[in-house]
Amino acid sequence: MAQPITRVGIVGCGLMGSGIAEVCARAGYTVIVREVSREQLAAGLARIDGSLDRAVARGKLAAAERDAARSRIIGATDLSAFADCDLVVEAVAENLELKRRVFAELDAAAPRHALLASNTSSLAIIEMAAATDRPAQVLGLHFMQPVPVMPLLEIVRTFLTSDETLEAAQAFAARLGKTSVVCKDSPGFIVNRLLIPYLLHAIDALEKGIATKEDFDAAIKLGLNHPMGPFTLLDYIGLDTILFIADAVFDETKDARFAAPPLLRRMVSAGYLGRKNGRGFYDYTSQ
Ligand code: CAA
Repeated sequence: MAQPITRVGIVGCGLMGSGIAEVCARAGYTVIVREVSREQLAAGLARIDGSLDRAVARGKLAAAERDAARSRIIGATDLSAFADCDLVVEAVAENLELKRRVFAELDAAAPRHALLASNTSSLAIIEMAAATDRPAQVLGLHFMQPVPVMPLLEIVRTFLTSDETLEAAQAFAARLGKTSVVCKDSPGFIVNRLLIPYLLHAIDALEKGIATKEDFDAAIKLGLNHPMGPFTLLDYIGLDTILFIADAVFDETKDARFAAPPLLRRMVSAGYLGRKNGRGFYDYTSQ
């Protein structure tokens, strides 16, 4: 039996890390969130504050619950802050060398019993497990965007992840109020294995002039009852993120379904990244 999880460490307090920290704190865990500088930590904690305030304003959370959740979040700039954590979730930039370095450092900083997880959307978990001396305790915990809203957590097990680690991760997901699915450490896991070819196909069809982006979006939204059509979703996730995942899976598999269409690469080169910087397939500069 793995030790029960009570303290959760999060490495990185960007969009994903701050969302993960928030859902953990709302579920009652003590959360230690680490950023590389005081400035980035302050920005990450401010993002959490904004999201908690939004939940209160929407009547999703009582003000007292917000304050209790916030009081459970401790900011840090040093990995030594993870010395008492039972689980550490890595949510740094999607760069394998960086992640391998973080996992080697976590292996030294976190207690021997702690589980180490990556929130990567496309990199192989075994690469990070191999940077530690505890590969049986390493797994993927892939949260969806926006983390506080999406009810799914993908749990990714390598062929070295133990049954105890998997069970502890499933219990953790349940306590967060997420439904978990289990997937082999394989390119794209479940969601991106299906989602990325669909989104790339939409861009290819747009380039071929099959229909306008507005009509593709209307067709999928109204015809299939999806919350967003493909071009709204591409902008929402971020075109650079989509390109990164497509390239990572293509590099590993040479599967043509993951070959990025020229338009996507050119848009990213031109700085059209989606909602995050105000322009992608649609223009958000006036919002
Ligand atoms: N943080 C917290 N809460 C948020 C939020 C955020 N960033 N964005 C929206 N919400 C909440 C709102 O508070 C609202 O709750 P109530 O209706 O209960 O008050 C609810 O979500 C709906 O929000 P809105 O009314 O503002 O907007 P919407 O109805 O258009 O929904 C959406 C927004 C939830 C993002 C919805 O459009 C949606 O589900 N889109 C698809 C998202 C998706 O597919 N995500 C997965 C991406 S793939 C991925 O993440 C994996 C990967 O590796 C790329």
